[in-house]
Amino acid sequence: MTSTLITNIGELVTNDPAMGDGSFLGVAHDAALVIEDEHVAWIGPASKAPPTDAREDIGGRAVVPGFVDSHTHLVFAGERSAEFAARMAGERYTGGGIMTTVTATRAASDTALRVHTAHLAAEMLASGTTTIEIKSGYGLTVADELRLLRIAGEFTPETTFMGAHVVPLEFANDRDGYLDLVCGEMLATCSPYARWIDVFCDTGAFSAEETRRVLAAGIEAGLLPRLHGNQIQHGPGVQIAVEFGAASVDHCTHLDDSDIEALAASDTVATLLPGADFSTRSPYPDARRLLDAGVTVALATDCNPGSSFVTSIPLCIALAVREMQMTPAEALHAATAGGAAALRREGIGHLSVGARADIVVLEATTFVHLAYRPAAPIVARAWRGGATSPPQ
Ligand code: NIG
Ligand code: FE
Repeated sequence: MTSTLITNIGELVTNDPAMGDGSFLGVAHDAALVIEDEHVAWIGPASKAPPTDAREDIGGRAVVPGFVDSHTHLVFAGERSAEFAARMAGERYTGGGIMTTVTATRAASDTALRVHTAHLAAEMLASGTTTIEIKSGYGLTVADELRLLRIAGEFTPETTFMGAHVVPLEFANDRDGYLDLVCGEMLATCSPYARWIDVFCDTGAFSAEETRRVLAAGIEAGLLPRLHGNQIQHGPGVQIAVEFGAASVDHCTHLDDSDIEALAASDTVATLLPGADFSTRSPYPDARRLLDAGVTVALATDCNPGSSFVTSIPLCIALAVREMQMTPAEALHAATAGGAAALRREGIGHLSVGARADIVVLEATTFVHLAYRPAAPIVARAWRGGATSPPQ
């Protein structure tokens, strides 16, 4: 067993209300923390730190829990900058470009996909993300969905089968045939490699009835439900997510009162993806109403080449604060504890004794700089599962 003391922490955000100032962020000052192997073994005042094998003085910087990015589509090939430029010149986002990425992804080798995913995952770690969820959904054949999930599984245990992303072109005249495939052979082949099942329930993607069918089949196969809903237009996504006890419904750009009431009365997290609203020039979701109603909110990047080619959680925090009326404290909580709730994970998203040692040192004296210093290289260094990564 190896122990390391991280000391001279000017401001420590624990997300444990029993710690420090008693706020939901549990902020302590002049703190220290001991990592033992993969976990946090001790937290307390720097002056009372126990002896350890190694010691890191971080010079009064702020420390926060590693970010939990609970929604990404990281395994893909190609890019769609021309589509982005067209949107910025007035085109609307419809999800119609997904097939462009499907074609590029099907044509890419496993090695090319793995190298590209590793590059994006490294970008994420450099901006403080220590847990990622990764969806399939750019293969849309049995063999391609399988290889996307196998590659995703090399990067995270939080893998999601999303054969119901869109109906691929070859099934354009046979939607039911595609749904039979997704709920049949594709699900049977992919479910051993996934923890979650997700459906794009929206205009231009899957209807309420189709969504229910896919979620029910996924649950029957042992997967846990989560959902894309209410991104492009108001629709039934939130209600279906609550009906199925989904861990999370993601996007939530277009909500009405009954959606907010349903979420508030449920355990379903509302995962907001400001990178997608930014990159599709859509309205931002009403985070304030969700929080005031008592809904658990998460922030994630939705990293994908179409609607949100964003790897940075700090950018999402800055957008949430500036554009979605979240306070810096609420936004940080949503990107850490909120993401953990959206993945139904208890040992991450907070820093307390026994939690995984996912620790981010900021190049700042307070976490507020995550929103106050947008686009600055704000992460000084990080530990993921107790393993340190070099300063960026
Ligand atoms: O979450 N909305 C559905 N899927 C992705 C976008 C996929 C794409 O445009 O390639 C999203 O925004
Ligand atoms: Fe998405």
